[in-house]
Amino acid sequence: MSPSIATLRTDVYGLVSPDALRGSLAGKVALVTGSSRGIGKHIARALAEAGASVAVTGRDEASVKSACADISQHQTPCAPFVADVLNERDLERLVKEVETQLGPIDILILNAGTNMFMPFHLHEADSWWHMMELNVRAPVALTRLVLPGMKQRNSGTILYISSRAALADLPWTTAYNCSKAALLRFAGSLSAELDFLQKRDGFEKNGIQIFSIHPGEINTDLHKTSKPENLRSDAPYVLELLEKLSANRPTFSPQLPAWSVVYLAAGKAPELRGQYVDCTRDLEETARNARASKC
Ligand SMILES: NC(=O)c1ccc[n+]([C@@H]2O[C@H](COP(=O)([O-])OP(=O)(O)OC[C@H]3O[C@@H](n4cnc5c(N)ncnc54)[C@H](OP(=O)(O)O)[C@@H]3O)[C@@H](O)[C@H]2O)c1
Repeated sequence: MSPSIATLRTDVYGLVSPDALRGSLAGKVALVTGSSRGIGKHIARALAEAGASVAVTGRDEASVKSACADISQHQTPCAPFVADVLNERDLERLVKEVETQLGPIDILILNAGTNMFMPFHLHEADSWWHMMELNVRAPVALTRLVLPGMKQRNSGTILYISSRAALADLPWTTAYNCSKAALLRFAGSLSAELDFLQKRDGFEKNGIQIFSIHPGEINTDLHKTSKPENLRSDAPYVLELLEKLSANRPTFSPQLPAWSVVYLAAGKAPELRGQYVDCTRDLEETARNARASKC
């Protein structure tokens, strides 16, 4: 894991920008879960601007179609697919349909996720576990379906949207922190396995790059849906802490994680393979630090 000591970034910059990366993913096929809105939609649009054909997906058909229509303006094929990532049959159909319509998946972005702020003693057990299902079981299940093709081709990028919550003991969000920590560890461990297995299968080196990222605190629907109505009456101290934290935080552009994902998917930071990457820190400096720490 690389330390976050690189320069803070709040918007696109230098090599991590549309001008530097346009065309860098020409001919690639990308599937982004949860791309009907929020961070996923911004990532899907940036991937399309970088030249990839993009599969946009989510549960709500109208939002999926509208996001896809918006992204299609970039003149690369974009196709809408309605699927619930918690439903195994939907996942199997999703992968089949994307590969039939767009081609083998080169870039898989596991973004669909949720959060709920709630003290552990008030958090209903099923709801707590639901977060682990959506944030961990679903991305792992989709990885299982897409990875065999990538292994055969010895090529691809799998990127998990984790969070800085994976590294911090933030209160009132135990399920979310656990789920994002699990994704970070899963990404790193899977990358290490592939480094071994791909060579054993006769490839000179592993051609599949895996990352987990912190996208930055981006103002999306999640910031509202993660605060249920009863917090105000049952645990007002949670809202007080969240207000304090957000008052001290810079505003991050959604373009920042979107183009950081393009940068990583385009193979610009091989030093960071397998690692947790904080998109709010300069990626060139982060990669340089990672190189230095290996010396
Ligand atoms: N926003 C932040 O500040 C922040 C910070 C760190 C990490 N993250 C992570 O970034 C990711 C995206 O967050 P966001 O803020 O963009 O959230 P968001 O605005 O709530 O969007 C979530 C997306 O996931 C989809 N989704 C939810 N449940 C689904 C399901 N069962 N099956 C298929 N799709 C589903 C939603 O579409 P439907 O509801 O229509 O299905 C939507 O497209 C999450 O993993 C989150 O944990 C966000």
